[in-house]
Amino acid sequence: MLWVLRDHLDLTGTKYGCGMAQCGACTVHLDGTAVRSCQLPISVVGNQAVTTIEGLSANGDHPVQKAWLEQDVAQCGYCQAGQIMSAASLLKTNPNPSDADIDAAMSGNICRCGTYLRIKEAIKSAARK
Ligand code: FES
Ligand code: FES
Repeated sequence: MLWVLRDHLDLTGTKYGCGMAQCGACTVHLDGTAVRSCQLPISVVGNQAVTTIEGLSANGDHPVQKAWLEQDVAQCGYCQAGQIMSAASLLKTNPNPSDADIDAAMSGNICRCGTYLRIKEAIKSAARK
């Protein structure tokens, strides 16, 4: 799915990191649930809705995106679309996550710049709103 999104649909917000479902850079939503698009055959999508970072909100104003800006989370930015998609999926099913819930939901999203503390603060901030 990742290459359909990037190469055929020009939706390049979703990133290629490991290609092995290990880093989370390629995270998108399938019917609202975070999935790793690098390991998802396009043939299994069927009628399910696919949402990329481009479609998370109309104007970049999803509560998670706003919290990301408030907390100045991003450093190089490469992992951040995947981080935001995982966070948005978490808050959709668990609007008031504990630290442990956040750690569990976000453990598959790697950030080489080490923005983890700001990511956690941003998720808590988005949850409060
Ligand atoms: S590129 Fe898909 S999980 Fe790393
Ligand atoms: S912000 Fe650089 S990899 Fe996460």
